[in-house]
Amino acid sequence: MLEGKVAVITGTTRGIGRAIAEKFAQNNASLAIISRSEKVFDVAQELQKYNGKVIAYQLDVSNFERCQQVGKQIIEEFGRVDILVNNAGITRDMLLLRMSEKDWDEVIRVNLKSIFNMTKAVVPQMIRQRNGVIINMSSVVGLGGNAGQANYAASKAGIIGFTKSVAKELGARNIRSNAIAPGFIETDMTRALPEKVLSDWKESIPLRRIGSVDDVANVALFLASDMASYITGQVINVCGGLDI
Ligand SMILES: NC(=O)c1ccc[n+]([C@@H]2O[C@H](COP(=O)([O-])OP(=O)(O)OC[C@H]3O[C@@H](n4cnc5c(N)ncnc54)[C@H](OP(=O)(O)O)[C@@H]3O)[C@@H](O)[C@H]2O)c1
Repeated sequence: MLEGKVAVITGTTRGIGRAIAEKFAQNNASLAIISRSEKVFDVAQELQKYNGKVIAYQLDVSNFERCQQVGKQIIEEFGRVDILVNNAGITRDMLLLRMSEKDWDEVIRVNLKSIFNMTKAVVPQMIRQRNGVIINMSSVVGLGGNAGQANYAASKAGIIGFTKSVAKELGARNIRSNAIAPGFIETDMTRALPEKVLSDWKESIPLRRIGSVDDVANVALFLASDMASYITGQVINVCGGLDI
């Protein structure tokens, strides 16, 4: 589904981003994969078994200047960028009364500013190509809020405003911009939650199961592909029917 396309994906060492990278590689995309830790080089090695070219970049996506540098390197090495998946994200959960300024700033910087940084790094190339797809990883928490996650929810709600604005601004340039709002997906991020929180969540999900990383990666694949060529400015919830 992605033959001949070049995809830039952030947060690919594990979880949802790793699954998206693998799914895109299986569908013959070439990949520029990004994470903050050097584990990203091992992931690139593992993904070499598919047909496309894969290059890893170690980058903190909250750093604007570094994103500009890496964006330039990617365009030099691949010649184009068809798809950008802004997936990297963190949590620093705490009730508001005890939330520190540091934890607020860090979550906003890594989850929200990074999306501005990476989009700015590749969008001029997409405009030159008159073609591009941007997929931003939001969360159902950005739509409904969640106690103990004011920083995270604010960052994920901000992503939705950004996504819809870019869709309106760049639609005429044939650039699509959509967000995915996963519900409760089994990854390291959610494995850190207490057992009681996990079982309460599961009970409230109409499909009565926690989502898999592939549930999200399949939607990313669809949005990235030409099958979604008339979809922009949307938020697709992947949450098992959770009432938000
Ligand atoms: N899991 C869920 O239930 C769920 C639900 C809704 C939304 N989401 C969203 O989906 C995305 C992926 O979540 P996940 O559960 O797969 O998370 P995860 O398992 O914690 O993985 C996060 C990824 O982001 C990378 N990353 C973190 N900070 C970074 C930075 N500053 N620069 C570059 N890379 C960075 C990490 O790489 P290194 O640490 O190796 O650098 C890792 O590859 C996040 O945006 C998350 O908010 C997840």
